[in-house]
This record gives sequence, C-alpha cells and structure tokens, in this order.
Amino acid sequence: MNCSILKRAQEKDIIRIVLTNIRDFATDSYRKVDDKPYGGGPGMVMMPGPVFDCAEHVQKLSPEKGRGILLTPQGQKFTQAKAVELSKENRLILIAGKYEGFDERIRIGLGAEQVSVGDYVLNGGELAAMVIIDTVVRLLPGALGDEDSPRDESFSNGLLEYPQYTKPEAFRNMKVPDVLLSGNHAKIAQWRHQQAIERTKKNRPDLIKNNKF
Ligand code: ADE
Repeated sequence: MNCSILKRAQEKDIIRIVLTNIRDFATDSYRKVDDKPYGGGPGMVMMPGPVFDCAEHVQKLSPEKGRGILLTPQGQKFTQAKAVELSKENRLILIAGKYEGFDERIRIGLGAEQVSVGDYVLNGGELAAMVIIDTVVRLLPGALGDEDSPRDESFSNGLLEYPQYTKPEAFRNMKVPDVLLSGNHAKIAQWRHQQAIERTKKNRPDLIKNNKF
C-alpha cells in the first residue's frame, strides 16, 4: 500500500488507509481469534468477540459510519461495477478473516455485506481486501496521473480491451498492424472495437452473453 498509485493517493489525501489487527482484540494470552466449528468438521472459524470488538473500535475512529464488507468466498462476486459502486462511498470497512470463514453472528450483527474476489479460496481475506482497495482507489478522481488514465479499460464497456502496441514498429518479426499507423482515427476505432469483441468472444464468452454493445 506504500507504492505507486496507492502511495500517491495517500500523499494527496485522496484516501486514508488504516490497518487494524483483529488479533489485538483477542482476550486470551495466545491471542486466539478462531476456534473449531460447532457441529464438527475441519478447519477453524473466526470468533465473533474479537471481530466485533475490532470492528467497533474501527467504526469509532471516524464519525462517518462506513460500509462494512466481509471478505469471504461465500460473498457476491466483486466486479468492476461493484468497484464503481464502492468508489462512491466515503468510507469502507473491510474485514478479512481466515479462509474457513466467519461465525454467522458476525455477518448478522455487523450488518456487513459479503464480497468474494473470485471463485477460489485464499488463505485469508487480506489479499481480497487489497484487491478491493487497489481497484477502488484507481477510480477516485485525481488518483491516476494522465499516463495511467482508464479510458478504454477492460470491463468499463463490458468488453475486454483491444490489443495495444507501442514502439518499436517491428519486433522479432512481428509488426504493428498497419491500421494503427494509418492516422485514420475512425478506422482505428472500428478496428479496436472489432478486436475487443473477438478477444472477448474467445477469452470470456460469458461477458458477451450479458452485453448490449
Ligand atoms: N477469503 C478467502 N477466499 C476469498 C475470496 N475468494 N474472496 C474474498 N475473501 C476470501
């Protein structure tokens, strides 16, 4: 969080990131924050006490209530549309637990929505929280310099991005497509749109189904 765009966004006071360790709210000398599931089964479950105490402590750091988000593979899938939605909030409280999940009373009691970053299981929610922070921050006004501007980014129009080229014109026998050197902006735009559609069809046919381009 102290590199590149996130670093600059904090220096420019566009965002403030506060990290709080749930373990600091454990009540025993082992700093235990998870335990075996009632009813049996493998793995551990985050205990409600430390998570609640931690979340309440964090809530009180600002008068702004904040939108609570529990990172878990059981959540709704995080998408670019969700990132845009979250980028409009003044404050997010991201709660990362261990992979087996949270005691259900945490979700109910905190009224937090559950979000998953994808259909796979991470060792913990920290990387998922990082994904959300990274994705949301780059949508905040002023966070990106011109050179990292999000113009035709993948997903912003429901399609993957078209192929990009930069210098040199020829590289190991591979040439930049002539159309990109033609200076004909209408033709370039048409070529890029066509390429974006073809690439999306090939790599992400699921996106095409819901697309209205
Ligand atoms: N914690 C573990 N796996 C996760 C995932 N896919 N998304 C969000 N939080 C998680």
